[in-house]
Amino acid sequence: VGRAAAFADLRAAWKAARDGRPAVALVTGEEGSGKTRFTDEFLRWVEADQPEALVLRARAYEPERETPWSVARELLAPLRAAPGLGGADAGALAHLARLVPGVRERYRELPDAGDDEHRLHEAVLQVILSVAAEVPVVLAVDDLPLADAPSRRLAIFLARRLGGASVLLLYTVRTGDAAAHATTLELRDLPALRRIALKPLRPAEVEAMLRSMLPLPAQECRELAARLHSETGGNPLYIFELSAALVEAGHIEPGEDGRWRLSVSLLGPLPLPAGMRDVVARRLGRLSGAARDTLAAAAALGERFDAARLAAAGELAPRELSDALDELVTRRLLRDTPGRPGNYTFSHSIIRRVAYERLLPARSAAPPPEPAGPRRPWYRKLWQTPDAVFVDAGSAGEWLTARLRLAVMALLLILPTVNLLTEPSYGPYRTGFVVTLLAVAVAVILLQLLRRDGYRPWLGFLSSGLDVSLVSLGLASFIWAGDPHAAVNSKTTFEIYFLAVLAASLRYDRRICISAGAIAIAQYLAIVAYADARWELNDPGFAPFPYGMFSWVAQIGRAILLGAAALLSWELVRRAQHLREMAVRDQVTGLFNRNFFETRARVELARARRYGYDVAVALLEIPAPPRTGERFGHDAGDERLRSLAERIRGVLREGDVIARYGIGEIALLLPEANADEAARTLDFLRADLGCGVAGFPADGGHLEILMQVAGSRAWTAHYAREAASPAPRAAASA
Ligand SMILES: Nc1ncnc2c1ncn2[C@@H]1O[C@H](COP(=O)(O)OP(=O)(O)OP(=O)(O)O)[C@@H](O)[C@H]1O
Ligand SMILES: [Mg+2]
Repeated sequence: VGRAAAFADLRAAWKAARDGRPAVALVTGEEGSGKTRFTDEFLRWVEADQPEALVLRARAYEPERETPWSVARELLAPLRAAPGLGGADAGALAHLARLVPGVRERYRELPDAGDDEHRLHEAVLQVILSVAAEVPVVLAVDDLPLADAPSRRLAIFLARRLGGASVLLLYTVRTGDAAAHATTLELRDLPALRRIALKPLRPAEVEAMLRSMLPLPAQECRELAARLHSETGGNPLYIFELSAALVEAGHIEPGEDGRWRLSVSLLGPLPLPAGMRDVVARRLGRLSGAARDTLAAAAALGERFDAARLAAAGELAPRELSDALDELVTRRLLRDTPGRPGNYTFSHSIIRRVAYERLLPARSAAPPPEPAGPRRPWYRKLWQTPDAVFVDAGSAGEWLTARLRLAVMALLLILPTVNLLTEPSYGPYRTGFVVTLLAVAVAVILLQLLRRDGYRPWLGFLSSGLDVSLVSLGLASFIWAGDPHAAVNSKTTFEIYFLAVLAASLRYDRRICISAGAIAIAQYLAIVAYADARWELNDPGFAPFPYGMFSWVAQIGRAILLGAAALLSWELVRRAQHLREMAVRDQVTGLFNRNFFETRARVELARARRYGYDVAVALLEIPAPPRTGERFGHDAGDERLRSLAERIRGVLREGDVIARYGIGEIALLLPEANADEAARTLDFLRADLGCGVAGFPADGGHLEILMQVAGSRAWTAHYAREAASPAPRAAASA
């Protein structure tokens, strides 16, 4: 649908080639724009129209999975029986035989060939030229940028040298990534190059495509097409997948007259899922259990696979397996390869990718992810336990306040001491001295606690609570001294509350800000209430001078100011947490970054060395997903990393750290756990990925060494898994 002009271009190129003019057609388009289909249709047309023509075709999948030359072998295989082969010299045939072993069977007397790549290129060129002298040749490679490197070099070489023979070169390139760009650049300056760009379908074309798939009444078809067009931007793959999803979800149903109709559920807005992945995932969700398992296992094998491999895995009885494969083919998730029984390909790479991402993790024995749950209530935000990193920041703040407190209290002690020395018998002076001395003692004790045990959040609660209480104690001492007005109308002592409440923010813990504020308000109001109850404060005989009258309105106002101070320090912490958050997290996955991991790990190791406990680290190698970094917003690898991290978090304790260590690597830090405990915790991952654990002090004393040990164990585990289920590559080369 909608490719008539492009098809005519290609036919013109083919005609030019048969007339002896060089022709290289480069079909480009985004994922799912129909390059594979377009090429297939063209080759089918050639085979019908010129049965004598020799069609050489190959499809590339993923460079990292292909063995060298695999695409070229597939491409050139039919040369074995091609007419005109004898026109090439024995040396060239000998080289060709390296890629097409059948040639040696046909020509038994061939000399030995070295493995010089350039000679091989020249040999293939010579052979194709001599075949093309007999019959026209089409040489088509689908997704050339994904071919293994030597095959790709051969394809480019042929494009540069095959001018003038009766040969059409037809390469497709999925636009949008660096490999595509590189390939296009290599071909760009060829005079014979004809670019055929497959554009998105227009609304009328979407309608035609929809009509070809579903016999809908004209009006409904037009409406649905318009919606699909706006939803997919005219990408044929998305249109196909969306329509299939709508049919499978029962939104489009066959009526009694055999025509299809939109169900009432479609009268409103289209119930379309957010992205292509979700669309495909929904289709997978409707498969039978056996089919889903089969698809997941197949996704792990590769873009194309042999059913025998699935049978060998033995998860399904042969009968069930063949039913499952039938179901998958009927639902157009898999295609069987014509002429190669038992060989399947995914009908589109996105299907494999989604199966890989969404079905594989679900099969492992991991604990089910926590239910999303209701939104967190507002008070959870207010009262939030800080992450480990803020405990470190809080520790620095605690040290600062501890020293400052001691210095301030020591200085404040000067005045009551002088007072006491000048007038030892005056009661208020004595109280003042005792209270300040008590404050100095508290400051010393808090500093000692910090020295001895290090900072823990409870210490922050305690010290900020004590700071506030010392202020209250100062105010209360005025009451003991018989001067309640000094307590309720104090012009200097009361303000120290503000210092204490704001200093609470230095603990980087929102809870501490709130608790300090609440304690201040409660204690202050209690003092005021006591004074008000005990004395007739505004009695003219009571001499309120120099303070002024007592009023509850003013007192409530002071309490509100304290509340505001607490909120300000809370907000200060929230902002600091936000900024810090951005500095310690990997922007893409939201996990902690490596830098943070290493800092935390060193701190934990230092603590462990001091107090003699264990620390375990773990390194997880996440196998590369089939293909990453493409459309649909997210990088599939990051997505996988994130979902894996989510699963791991479920089994970790609070205080354990999970970080992105490298590309495809997650590192874990488990303080106060030894390697065995950590390995048991992570055991559920073993089926899915290589996971290595190392423990302090058993495996080493320094982070670098522990990480090295964990890393090498991760690799061992990885290879053990590979050996248990051989990689697809091994099957391909076998
Ligand atoms: N013009 C078209 N008319 C009808 N169906 C189409 C058209 N183009 C593509 N399709 C269908 O859309 C789906 C995706 O097409 P295809 O796999 O050829 O895309 P592609 O460009 O090769 O994608 P990729 O870049 O991922 O290889 C297939 O089901 C194909 O049959
Ligand atoms: Mg394709």
